[in-house]
Amino acid sequence: MKRTLVAPSILSGNFADMGSEVKNMKDIGADWIHVDVMDGVFVPNLTFGFKMIQDLRPLSELFFDVHLMIVEPRRYVERFVKAGADLVSFHVEAEKEIDATIEGIKACGAKAGLVINPDTPTDKFAPYIDKLDLVLVMSVFPGFGGQKFIDGSLERIAKVKEMRDRLAPSCLIEVDGGVTTANAESIAKAGADVIVAGNAVFGATDRKRAVEAIRGK
Ligand code: DX5
Ligand code: ZN
Repeated sequence: MKRTLVAPSILSGNFADMGSEVKNMKDIGADWIHVDVMDGVFVPNLTFGFKMIQDLRPLSELFFDVHLMIVEPRRYVERFVKAGADLVSFHVEAEKEIDATIEGIKACGAKAGLVINPDTPTDKFAPYIDKLDLVLVMSVFPGFGGQKFIDGSLERIAKVKEMRDRLAPSCLIEVDGGVTTANAESIAKAGADVIVAGNAVFGATDRKRAVEAIRGK
């Protein structure tokens, strides 16, 4: 059985003490660190940009999984890679120049991911999947942590898995939004290789246990 990777989302961390939160990720057994960048336009919330990532970068060796929720991400991908992103994912709904954006991310040495919202057809991935390192299936509408996993997301993940297995076996499937220790197993079974968890990790009294439960040991 493959090992599911767990990527805690620092959106649910303490913004006044983000350095400590990031350092803590290795101790609790996180595989990746999920970093949510929001512009207040693509989503109705704001977080942070390059400077935060650049300052957090020296504090952890873990893989920085940067999820851009911004309009026209092509303008900025290079700066996110330079700031320290290992992978940059962007929304299909936010960019017209999808091929060029993927190429832009890869050209500066990072991995590239494409994201779809819960109401975007899963076949939107099809034309790009063989160029991508990761596809991210949102299981909530992006913008906030702590929302409820949307029913029907498991079927969407399974559809993406069928497409991935057929067209691009090495591309990872990531799922983001509303993950709990109770639903993580079914999300992994549906096809997730990487599971993002904000509230389920940062809201837990024992973060390490929460990561283990989500990974499913
Ligand atoms: C939502 C973000 C998610 C969020 C997940 O817009 O993209 O990464 O932090 O938080 P939870 O796991 O609490 O739903
Ligand atoms: Zn995210």
